[in-house]
Amino acid sequence: MTAQFPVARPRRLRRTAPMRRMVAGTRLHPAELVLPMFVKEDIGQPNPIGSMPGVFQHTRDSLRKAAHEAAEAGVGGLILFGIPAVKDGRGSAADDPEGIVQRAVADLVSDVGDTMVVMTDTCLDEFTDHGHCGILTGEGEVDNDATLERYAAAAVAQARAGSQVIAPSGMMDGQVAAIRTALDGDGFEQVPILAYSAKYASAFYGPFREAAECAPQFGDRNAYQQDAAGPVGEALREVRLDLDEGADAVMVKPALAYLDILRQVRDAVHVPVAAYQVSGEYAMVEAAAANGWIDRDRVIMESLVAIRRAGADMILTYWATEVAAKLR
Ligand code: PBG
Repeated sequence: MTAQFPVARPRRLRRTAPMRRMVAGTRLHPAELVLPMFVKEDIGQPNPIGSMPGVFQHTRDSLRKAAHEAAEAGVGGLILFGIPAVKDGRGSAADDPEGIVQRAVADLVSDVGDTMVVMTDTCLDEFTDHGHCGILTGEGEVDNDATLERYAAAAVAQARAGSQVIAPSGMMDGQVAAIRTALDGDGFEQVPILAYSAKYASAFYGPFREAAECAPQFGDRNAYQQDAAGPVGEALREVRLDLDEGADAVMVKPALAYLDILRQVRDAVHVPVAAYQVSGEYAMVEAAAANGWIDRDRVIMESLVAIRRAGADMILTYWATEVAAKLR
């Protein structure tokens, strides 16, 4: 049947793969992917993380190898998490110049620091014996201001070891200002801060706590990380405060369940916005795929495109190396 008038036919632009490719509004590029990596002190072999198939707690050697592979694939950056051999109440290993993060970051900077950005997560939960992200008061609450001093010391130790971006993830009030002041005071005016600004208290972090051995030994993180159902505008407030305190880029975390927040942040600021596709997002896809319930590769790409489309300039993802290699 011929229409009496021209019919709108959006399908014309979808008919062939080259056509779809040409008109695509969202593209992924390896350079915007950031690989989170775990290094553990005093282990002889890389340790597979049960709830994150394909992800490992690395030895210093296997970390270097995996970082080379990421660089080879064109991944834009990596962010390092360390698990020390000894933990204590104040997270002493976090700012020990000989601590695992500091040693490993020096390796990585000398290996791949010219081709990809070597970043460090700055927090205490991997280093404290109680698993909280800060110093505790006698009542077992996280003491905001006492924790800031520890973050500042850890950030300086990381920068001295060569870290090229400091990424504070603890959600203490004033953490960006404290770290900026300490970095500047130690001659690291040029080291940027990527602030985990809108970080929600999320059940999607479950597998990470196995990976980084940092599950809180009592209680939860609800008193410092944001509430998923929290006040409207809270994320933007956190982002603005971090920018006022000197953050160079901001992050929304987790990603897929917070795409609305990501879009709001992208529209509100003029700095790069990162999104963290977290451990639980990874684990869900891998588990469903292992059961043959979903098409793993397509789900990975679709979720990354969604995060990009919602406004992420950078995406932290455990699939960074694999996806970058595919995109090249
Ligand atoms: C805290 C930190 C966490 C993650 C990154 N940094 C865990 C937490 O807040 O409990 C989670 C990342 C992931 O789930 O992949 N240092």
